[in-house]
Amino acid sequence: MQLTTIKAKPFLKWAGGKAQLIEHFVHYLPDELTLGKLHRYVEPFIGGGALFFHIAQMYNIEGFFISDVNEELILVYKSIQKDVESLINLLKAMERKYHRLSPSRQKEYFYAVRFQLNENRSSVDFTSYSEVWVERTAQIIFLNRTCFNGLFRVNSKGEFNVPFGKYKNPLICAEDNLHAVSELLQRTEIRLGDFSVCESFVNSDTFVYFDPPYRPISKTASFTSYSKYDFDDATQLRLASFYRLLDRNGAKLMLSNSDPKNENPKDRFFENAYKNFYIERVKANRMINCNAEKRGAINELLIMNY
Ligand SMILES: C[S@@+](CC[C@H](N)C(=O)[O-])C[C@H]1O[C@@H](n2cnc3c(N)ncnc32)[C@H](O)[C@@H]1O
Repeated sequence: MQLTTIKAKPFLKWAGGKAQLIEHFVHYLPDELTLGKLHRYVEPFIGGGALFFHIAQMYNIEGFFISDVNEELILVYKSIQKDVESLINLLKAMERKYHRLSPSRQKEYFYAVRFQLNENRSSVDFTSYSEVWVERTAQIIFLNRTCFNGLFRVNSKGEFNVPFGKYKNPLICAEDNLHAVSELLQRTEIRLGDFSVCESFVNSDTFVYFDPPYRPISKTASFTSYSKYDFDDATQLRLASFYRLLDRNGAKLMLSNSDPKNENPKDRFFENAYKNFYIERVKANRMINCNAEKRGAINELLIMNY
């Protein structure tokens, strides 16, 4: 099989995933990147990695750095990097088993896997890779494919708590994609940690894309709890000073967030936090308002230093 001909794409559905926005974002990428003059790519809030996968296969990048504060997510990326064959074998076995079961047994199987994942959590060392990570990764991908809305959500104890999703025939093991992802991850440094861990990797030859948890556009639409770490306004401002630091080092920077002006036209939070940078508003068909009548196209902010 010619692995390089297969495009790697996100393998997890992730809250705040940017797959739908890429066609808009690509118009705002720096010329130096599209002309092949930047050779490093950094994404410190990697999530499902929609832009990472797009950029990795479009441009001439030699080294990648991805990180996230969510330990389960980083465990998954590292397992795919280190042992994709064992992962595929485990996932295929789960897939075969699942598809042989009746719908009510499928549901039981889902909850048994979920229970096991949560039960084992306290014994996992998230700081150093071990073989048990691969089985946990298979469980996470399986749950992500079969749970309600296909999301990854954890409670305050870090336990996965999404209910069963009742999909007719979910694809559980996307083997070719996992191979292509693993191949790309061989050129990628993967780290667990706060967004600032990328600092030493960033130089003037680097493009950095920041996709932090959204600043909630309204109290009801608040959807920032990806992990037990809250991302409040003070953290948004800490990120803005980190942005200024990397700007001084000569890197090209792009950051996205929800536009507070969607709800309150007078809000100047980002204008104040990112003075002297370029702010563009991009239309997004994002549906995060639980009130159906208020759903619709809203603006997404892009903040660039070029
Ligand atoms: C909007 S999501 C990223 C979505 C991603 N761009 C995609 O396309 O799927 C934000 C991510 O930030 C992570 N996060 C939250 N606080 C963080 C922090 N202080 N440092 C690094 N990552 C953080 C969350 O775990 C989550 O994966």
